This record gives sequence, C-alpha cells and structure tokens, in this order.
Amino acid sequence: MIEIINNNVFHLMNDKVSYVLYLMKNNQLGHLYYGSPLGKLTQNDVDYMLERNNKSAGTVKFYKDDGMFTLSDRLQEYPVYGTSDFKEGAIEIVDSKRTPLYLDFQFVKYEKEFTKERNLAYPATYSENEESQTLKIRLHDSNHNIDLIINYTIFENSAVIARSQEVINKSEDSITIEKLYSGVLELNNNNYDFIHFSGAWLKERHIKKKKLTQGKVSVESLKGASGHQHNPLVLLQEKSGNLNHGDVYGSNIIYSGNFVSQVEIDEWDNLRLLTGINSDYFSWKLGKNESFKSPEAILAYSNEGLNGISNEFSSFIENHVIDRQWQKQNRPIVFNNWEATYHDFTDESLVSLAEKGKSLGMECFVLDDGWFKNRHNDRTSLGDWVTDEKKFPNGLRDFSEKIQDQGLELGLWFEPEMISLDTQLYEEHPDWVVGHPYERKSVGRGQFVLDFSNPEVIENIYAQMKAIIEETNITYIKWDMNRNITEAYSEYLKEKQIDQTEFFHRYISGVYTLYNKILMDFPEMFIEACAGGGGRYDLGMLFYSPQIWPSDDSDAVERLAIMSGTLLGYPLSSFSNHVSASPNHQVYRETSIEMRQHVAMFGPHGYELDLNELGDEEQEKITKGIEWYKENRKLLTHGSFKQLMDPTNPENEYSWGVFNEDVSEAIISFYRILAKPNSAVTEYIEVPFLSEEKTYKINDTEVVSGQTLKKFGLRKPYQYNGANAGQAQVSGDFQSYIYHIIEVDEKEENNG
Ligand code: GLA
Repeated sequence: MIEIINNNVFHLMNDKVSYVLYLMKNNQLGHLYYGSPLGKLTQNDVDYMLERNNKSAGTVKFYKDDGMFTLSDRLQEYPVYGTSDFKEGAIEIVDSKRTPLYLDFQFVKYEKEFTKERNLAYPATYSENEESQTLKIRLHDSNHNIDLIINYTIFENSAVIARSQEVINKSEDSITIEKLYSGVLELNNNNYDFIHFSGAWLKERHIKKKKLTQGKVSVESLKGASGHQHNPLVLLQEKSGNLNHGDVYGSNIIYSGNFVSQVEIDEWDNLRLLTGINSDYFSWKLGKNESFKSPEAILAYSNEGLNGISNEFSSFIENHVIDRQWQKQNRPIVFNNWEATYHDFTDESLVSLAEKGKSLGMECFVLDDGWFKNRHNDRTSLGDWVTDEKKFPNGLRDFSEKIQDQGLELGLWFEPEMISLDTQLYEEHPDWVVGHPYERKSVGRGQFVLDFSNPEVIENIYAQMKAIIEETNITYIKWDMNRNITEAYSEYLKEKQIDQTEFFHRYISGVYTLYNKILMDFPEMFIEACAGGGGRYDLGMLFYSPQIWPSDDSDAVERLAIMSGTLLGYPLSSFSNHVSASPNHQVYRETSIEMRQHVAMFGPHGYELDLNELGDEEQEKITKGIEWYKENRKLLTHGSFKQLMDPTNPENEYSWGVFNEDVSEAIISFYRILAKPNSAVTEYIEVPFLSEEKTYKINDTEVVSGQTLKKFGLRKPYQYNGANAGQAQVSGDFQSYIYHIIEVDEKEENNG
C-alpha cells in the first residue's frame, strides 16, 4: 500500500485511490496527486508528474539564486505562510518572545507502521489485522530546532487517507503553537463547489452549497463543541457532478471541539483545503522536549458523486472510527420518555409506559432527564447525580429491576459536563465552574459548564456516574450537553500556571477522558451522544458513541433534510431516529403515523411519545411497524445507503434506498412534502444501484427485472389528482411510500 520511488516520492495506494507526495527541491514535502488509483508508478511517470520547467510570474522566490522555485504556486503537504507562500498556512509557531517563526521543515526520514490499534485514551482511526499502513515522516527545522512528524495512514478497501501532525520542541527555549491544522488538501484547479452542513438548534446539518472563486470560505465553531451551526465535515463536488457521477473530495476531523474547515482559492485557481482545531482562542506552549499532536483528519475521494463519497465515509467510519462491536449487535428499539413526560413523571407512570412499550415490541427503556434529585424542570440540580426520592421512593435499583424484569434493557440520561448553582457540588466546589473571574457569567438553560480541564472534576463526576451505573445495571447511556462555553477560563489552569488559551482543547480532551473511564470499566456500555440534539455530531463523539441523537427536532419532515445532509458524511447506523407525537412538539406539524414510521425506520429506531395516549389503530400500526423493522433491522441500520434524489436541490421530494451486499434485497422510500395538483399519471425514480442480472418482486406484487427498474425507473406511488380516488396511493401533504424489493427466481415467477 505504500510505494517509495527513488527515495523521494511516496505513493500511498490501494484499489480505490492513490495519494502521492514528494520531496521538493527545498527538501520540504510537496503534494502531487490524490484521486483515482494510478497503479504502480514508474520512474518515467514520476519524472513526468514532477516536471515543471516553467517560471511563474509575480511571485517571490524561495532561494536568492534560483529564479524558478517559489512556494506560492506549489501544492504542498503542510504549508507555512510567509516563506514565499502567502496563502494561509497549516502551522504557526512563535518563540518565547512571541516572534513568529518562519518554519522550514525539511525531510529527515520515514518509517512505515503496520498496526494502528484502537486506543480509548484519545479518538483516532484504528485498524485490525494489518488492514492499514502508516507512513510516518519526520521533518526538522534546524533554525529553531523543532521536529514535525506527519503521519499518513491508508486502509485496505478504502479511499480515505487519515493524517495527523505532531510538533516536538527540541530547543532549549519554550515555543508556542498558535495553529496546527490536522488536514490539508491541495488541488490544482477550482472545478468544485463547496458543500457544508449548517443550521441551528432544531435544524442541524442542512446542505449548503457555495460556488468557489478566488478568496476564502470557511465554516467554524468557537463554542467549545463542534456545534449546531456548522459541522467539520465539508465536501468539494465537481461542478458538473451529481448524485452518482463526478469527483467529490471530502474532509472531516476526529474532534469535537472548536474547529475550522476552510477552502482558499488563489490567483491560479489552486485550491487549498485546511481543517483542524480553530486557531482563534487556541495556543499551546511547549517546553523543551514536549510535544503536541493534532487531532486526526480524514480525507476521502470518490468519482461516483455524492452517493460515492457518502458510502466511502460511511463504511470507513463504521470500520475504523466506531467500535466494531456495535456492528455485530442489533441496535435495540428504544422507548425514550422525554417527549412523553418531560420532567413530569413518577416511577409508576414510567413503569406503565415501559409495559406499554414492551407490549408494542420495544426493547430498551431510556429514562431521560428528570430522574435525579429535585430535577423537576431544566433549571436545577445538574452535578448532583443522586436519585430523586420523591419520584423514586423505592430507589432507582427497585425501578431498574421493574424495567429489566420485563425483559427490557435500561438506559439513563446524564449531562456530565454541567453544573447547576443549587447543587451540593457547587456549594463544595464553586471554582469548578468554567468562567472568568468577572462577576457576570453568561448562562444557558439556567446552567453552567464544569471545568473538564481539571482532572479532579472528571474523577468526581465519574465516581458519581459509576455508582449509579452499578446500582441500576444500565446498558445504555444517553450523554447530553446542553449549553456552550462562554467566558472560557479555568481556575485550575490558573493555579497550575497553564495558559488559558489551552482551555478549550484541554476541556474536550477531558470529555474524552471521561468517556475513556466509563468504557474501560464498562466496555459494553452503549453510549448515545447528544448535545441539545445535534450540537456535537462529529467523529470524536462517534469514536466513543456509535450513535448520536441528531436533533431535538423529531418532526418527520424536518428530519428529511437533517438526515439527507448528515448521511452525506456519516453512517446510517449513527443516526438515531424516533417516532414522536403528532402534532409534533417542535413545529406543531401533523403527520400520519405511517409517514413518521417511514422516516424513523432508517437508522436505529425508537419511539418518543406518550404511549398511553395512542388509539387502537395507532397501536396496531406501531406493533406492525416494529415487527417489520425487526425483520429488516440489519438492512435498515447497516445496509448500504444511497439517496435517489439530489438532496442538494430537494424540490419537495426525497427518496432513499438501502440494500444488502449482493443487492438481492432493497428498501426504498419516497417522500413528498406538499401535495401537487394534477400531477403526471406516471412518474419514475431512478434506481441505479439495483442489479441488472437479477429479477425483483416489489412489495410482494409486481415482478420486474433489475434492468428495467434501473433503466426505465421505479414508478412513484400514484398521487391523488381529484379524479383517481380508486387508484391513488398517496394524497395530501407529507406523503410517504415504501418499496420492499426482493430478488426472486425469474423462471419460477414466469411459470407461476
Ligand atoms: C436535550 C436533549 C433532549 C432531552 C433534553 C432533556 O434537549 O437533546 O433529547 O434529553 O435535553 O433535558
């Protein structure tokens, strides 16, 4: 997988991609190529690719006696601003007097590594059984005595290249890192549109597409979390590309804190993508022999359009970021009491909901917010993780047994990073609250953030959580985080004389430490991440939490947009999906139970509504829906997922498909948001993934060849048009329809 030509060209390759870097004339690392596999490279190929006997105009040259060599127009692996390149660089370091260093990292040596173990201490990609190879390149800046190690990992059967950087201070004096991005991708044209995933609370990860032209575009967070507003995932889609065709590059980072993902286009249309820890409100001091490693970035490539890149990311994340144990097990069908009761419940009312849920086929009862002392609304009690005796007069153990004795799993909600001011925790440790010593501190949801840069805080919270986990034998944790960090400042860092600019990164590393502690002691604990819905849908979280609550908006129609965006870069199995009440509590929209089920059945499935309010008909539909989901659960959580209508331009309709490995079975959905008058009698959906060699039966009725379905199309359900009452299959606003397509034996069907 790693080919080295003439000791100066490094070719990372497999069946899906090639990534080529080389040593430039100044012994720094240049970038040559990332894209479709090139196959084995000969010296001639390499010579041809490296040839550029042409002088650039209007540039500053790197050497005084070489008028040809400048970094301005070079594609580079880890560019530095200000040494003949004027675009933003990937790294910035200042010395102890805050003098900027113009770094010159020159090649020293390389090593190859053949294992990359999963290590819970910090989120990163991993592989098993030598499925990956890592090229570790050591560079050195001799002016300032600083080492830089760049790690590139390539994986079998994957178009992803993972990379990270480590800075080691070899000098006597301290230095401060002002910027150390994780990922760099340089392309020598701007033939791409920039796609990002942005929104807000209740409308996360909507697809936004921007045309690129000379200048910079970026998305970022400075909230201490990846955030609701933007996501570190970004895509570059070839302008003429579409859902299934054309080059797409993608980039993401395995990180949950402040980030930036940006693209800069220069005067020659060269494109530079940079992604990593946001350099605003960040710096990191290194004493002699100290080092700092950036989070890992993953870059992906596909020439099969948006679906192609989505499949690359999805299978990579499932196999090399999320713990593989969760692929082997069924995701339980969850009943979550939040939208059913909010804080208003007793142990008896919960047991009654659990019984109802169980009778309808649900498998795991997740007790959400409100179970701990005095938590009767969302303004109190965070940080004192002890049972509320009024709600649970017989204790939480008794309650958990009542749930588990029914054969249900039990999950519990925690918001470990938060503190309310009316708690014992605050009384004892007022200095554990994040906040500047000014008197005024901003408040969100009535709560404050705990200083997770302080190891003692993490120990305390973990001890409290551990006691509850052991008391209740829960197998599932919903880990929430409902407010962002303001006035970022830590008393602990002050005491330790650590710069406050290290706070944000130390905070999120502290969050990872708590995850690590829980999973070391309870390796089979299933943790669902959540941050006021989808405020931390990122790869740092997915490393520990195989599944994320994607939004506090559970409305089926809004979920169409959230899910179509999210799944362009994250796996179906990570997207937790619940059926909630109608009218929906966030937008007050009324939708049918079928529509809600047809959306929520994609991904891990659950229910979050007052089951005791359901009529007989709804109960029957839920029971049937759950039975059907159980039969098809593997496909609906771990099948290959493709979108059948371009979600970057939705125009009122969405269609999704999941299929198994040999495409002998597929489930396809169709949604229309608003009814349209007098539509065409027949309309079709393109289904390019079906097999041309196979014959299929649709919903146990029509038998059609894969070839026909692929080329002619899949007929959309007939829409009510004022005259077709007898034939209409869908009508009114918020329509949905499911096709279950199964391979059949053609001969048998013809004879029959
Ligand atoms: C957040 C979560 C919800 C629910 C509430 C409880 O908003 O996203 O799912 O858990 O907190 O307070």
